[in-house]
Amino acid sequence: MSETANPAGQTPSVAPKHPRNIVVGVSGGIAAYKAAHLVRNLKEHGDDVRVVPTEAALNFVGAATFEALSGHPVSTTVFDAVDEVQHVNIGQHADAVVVAPATADVIARIAAGRADDLLTATVLVATCPVIVVPAMHTEMWFNPATRDNVATLRRRGITVMEPAHGRLTGKDTGPGRLPEPEQIAELVRTRLAGIDINYDWQGLKVLISAGGTQEDLDPVRFIGNRSSGRQGFALAEIASQRGADVTIVAGNTVDLQTPSGAEIVNIVSTSELKAEMDSRARDADIVIMSAAVSDYRPASVASSKMKKGTNDDALSTLHMTENPDILKGLVAAREQGEISQETTIVGFAAETGDEKSSPLELAQAKFQRKGCDVLMANDVSEGKVFGNVNNEGWILTKELEPRTVAHGTKQVVAAQILDVVNEIRHEAGA
Ligand code: CTP
Repeated sequence: MSETANPAGQTPSVAPKHPRNIVVGVSGGIAAYKAAHLVRNLKEHGDDVRVVPTEAALNFVGAATFEALSGHPVSTTVFDAVDEVQHVNIGQHADAVVVAPATADVIARIAAGRADDLLTATVLVATCPVIVVPAMHTEMWFNPATRDNVATLRRRGITVMEPAHGRLTGKDTGPGRLPEPEQIAELVRTRLAGIDINYDWQGLKVLISAGGTQEDLDPVRFIGNRSSGRQGFALAEIASQRGADVTIVAGNTVDLQTPSGAEIVNIVSTSELKAEMDSRARDADIVIMSAAVSDYRPASVASSKMKKGTNDDALSTLHMTENPDILKGLVAAREQGEISQETTIVGFAAETGDEKSSPLELAQAKFQRKGCDVLMANDVSEGKVFGNVNNEGWILTKELEPRTVAHGTKQVVAAQILDVVNEIRHEAGA
């Protein structure tokens, strides 16, 4: 655990501070150009950014670019501005340090505790969250020396992001690409919110449904919902960063980055979602139903476009058939032994409340009905939550009082849900 550890499942108590001082370390890889986008993203969210490149990084992107984007001078060596004791000051005043891209060489130097340039000296001094974002060729990433160095950093509480799969500098492809700047920035902000991300889910298989299902009416029309998929993708991101093997079964979503290393399976309708979840849940340790599932589908799907005033006016009066409840089905399959008893099942509840009951009361009743182990309940009245980057609500479990989840980004909320899942799995001896 690092110094920023928060008690599992508790809303972090870190007071928001703005602007926060973020150090962006850049080492010498072709992906150094993406660091410019990272700096811009962090600045646009109101934070102050100081760039500390290595000498090698400046072969790829000039100091002028980083100075213009950050509004601060850039140096690489501890012998610049010696009177300001930069090699200590920058790290001491940082609220977060992110090294992106991090080459195999800089990872090795950080693991060895070296301080032979301004970047490594800054990392050695920093007591704030440190996020290292590797980018290198696949062979270097899988080299035992790099594996050991990465494990060392993780053991010390440094967040080492999994690299993305894809095209590398030459013609080769594989794991080793730098994740997208928005993904890196979001993870930095999550750590800044007081969220600790331990690499403790290696070997666990996590299955997550996300986004909205759509039910066809005819070849051009469908019935859908406003889900963006953001909460499911945020859960996938945090589970991936904890080291789990993650599969996302995604319906309709806004344009979202797939977390590094996660597998994505696309579906459209509820029946497709059910088929994927039912078969994949047999092999999963944790199943999360964050998809917004259509409760009903048209009783029949027209094979040609329905025309106004024809087809017995089928467009003005739709006949609907109830869809199966996938979450309830998964719980029943576990009771019948088709899914392991050790599998943790998580549901969501989107509630607006009504004249008789509050959103929390409705969610508690839904929790009883669904029979899952954890339920994340949201108040979705007045346009809250759907499509937003933020979320809030309550986490319900069988054993504990409802936990209030304060307003925060969907990644911060995701981390808290997964902490609760971790806690109840440990209590159950999993
Ligand atoms: N869910 C499901 N299958 C359905 C409907 C919902 O698996 N046919 C899951 C959702 O993914 C979510 C949970 O059940 O995890 C609750 O979804 P929600 O839409 O809030 O509740 P419903 O069961 O649809 O109940 P209602 O619409 O009456 O509130």
